[in-house]
Amino acid sequence: MKLLIDYADLDSIKELIALFPIDGVTTNPTILAKAGENPKDRLVKIRELIGPDMDLHCQVVASKKEEMVDQARKLVALLGENTYIKVPSSGEGFKAMEELTKEGIKITATGIYTPLQAFLAAKAGAKYLAPYVNRIDNLGYDGLGVTRKIQNILEANDFDAQILAASFKNSNQVLDLVERGVGALTLGPDVFKGLVNDKNVDFAIKTFEEDFESILEEGQTFSDIL
Ligand code: G3P
Repeated sequence: MKLLIDYADLDSIKELIALFPIDGVTTNPTILAKAGENPKDRLVKIRELIGPDMDLHCQVVASKKEEMVDQARKLVALLGENTYIKVPSSGEGFKAMEELTKEGIKITATGIYTPLQAFLAAKAGAKYLAPYVNRIDNLGYDGLGVTRKIQNILEANDFDAQILAASFKNSNQVLDLVERGVGALTLGPDVFKGLVNDKNVDFAIKTFEEDFESILEEGQTFSDIL
């Protein structure tokens, strides 16, 4: 399972990469707008920060197939090989996915609220399918249930696609999908930090350190005596 950061703030990305086993970064137009910089410049900076080997998912911003295809080609030329182009899972989007897949451009089908959108995107060649777990919950439906159905669809058909679940607000949503082993999850910084935000863990680690100090000399560390 891959773990990605759903954010475009450079300091936050750097901090999370230093703390967690991260495989890449996902962005969307709203996330880039919040970053407050020219979006092309920000995407280039994210690519420079994470290096050429990590995955970077960035989204086209168009409603017509031709424009989506044009933007996708330009984004891949700009950001390199391990770039996934997020294409909305709409009618025009499915046609763009087909065309771009034939060209070898890797697609993340985004804006997925229903299992049938995911089915159509997988059939159109998308490599990743991104259900919006929490946004579906907020509509009064079942975000995790939709994601499970998508997993059933992938298992029942011979699609070359995986789930990249997005839009999380709490650790329980994450835990459910980690147990199921979906292909990838993308989380914002707050949700990432919430995965290990437990005072009991902090207390246990601190206690080990304090107990150990009693068998070391003043100012000495374990490294010093190894
Ligand atoms: O890109 C889609 C996903 O990241 C949306 O997340 O937190 O805005 O619901 P959120």
